[in-house]
Amino acid sequence: MPTPHISAAPGAFADTVLLPGDPLRAEHIARTLLDDAVEVTRVRAMAGFTGSWNGRPVSVMGTGMGIPSSSIYATELVREYGVRRLLRIGTCGAVSESLRLGDIVLGQGACTDSGVNRSRFRGMDFAAIAGFDLLAAVAATARERRVPVAIGNLFSADLFYHPEPTLVDALDAMGVLGIEMEAAGLYGIAAEHRVQALAVCAVSDHLRSHASWSPQQRQCGVDDMVRLVLDAVIGAPPPGVDA
Ligand code: HPA
Repeated sequence: MPTPHISAAPGAFADTVLLPGDPLRAEHIARTLLDDAVEVTRVRAMAGFTGSWNGRPVSVMGTGMGIPSSSIYATELVREYGVRRLLRIGTCGAVSESLRLGDIVLGQGACTDSGVNRSRFRGMDFAAIAGFDLLAAVAATARERRVPVAIGNLFSADLFYHPEPTLVDALDAMGVLGIEMEAAGLYGIAAEHRVQALAVCAVSDHLRSHASWSPQQRQCGVDDMVRLVLDAVIGAPPPGVDA
């Protein structure tokens, strides 16, 4: 059933949906990485597509930035379209000195200054965690291919321009790896609906050294990460067959 924010027909989404923030990235992934992708929704320029990867169905849809926007799409995908696996595909700012630009951070958990999970949890602190099967699958594929991944806590910030000057120190002191703006909300939705979610973020900028990816590096780096995620959770080609 179409929703206020998604115009797709019932059954138009696959069981697994990749969720980049940028709808143009969703379109790019659909048109250049997936096979036979068709647009299934476009409301307020937020586009969604369903195609296939190594012969298996998968969808991709933009969510906009931040927990409020991404939560609308994730909730409607789960409740109205029966989606069971939500994979945020994005970038993060590195907090930890151990991370380099281009490293992949798998959000095993997500702290936040947002109140959404307290709203869900009668004001108590909810441990927002990734779906274990998704986390294990992406971690295993990355390790097999010697792609650098760090696994740990993300911080999903409500404000990109945060007024607290010591925020990064506070996060670092608790071992938080990177800052982004959606994972904690996605994990809360997954818990509420008993589905799986995982945030996979490429380090696009470093909050210590202030190094950042060029637009070209951003495009290619995220594409490589998406291929890795698709192989891990949808399926790699059989040995000897080129993707
Ligand atoms: N803050 C919040 N979100 C982000 C950042 C950041 O520094 N970098 C990439 N996404």
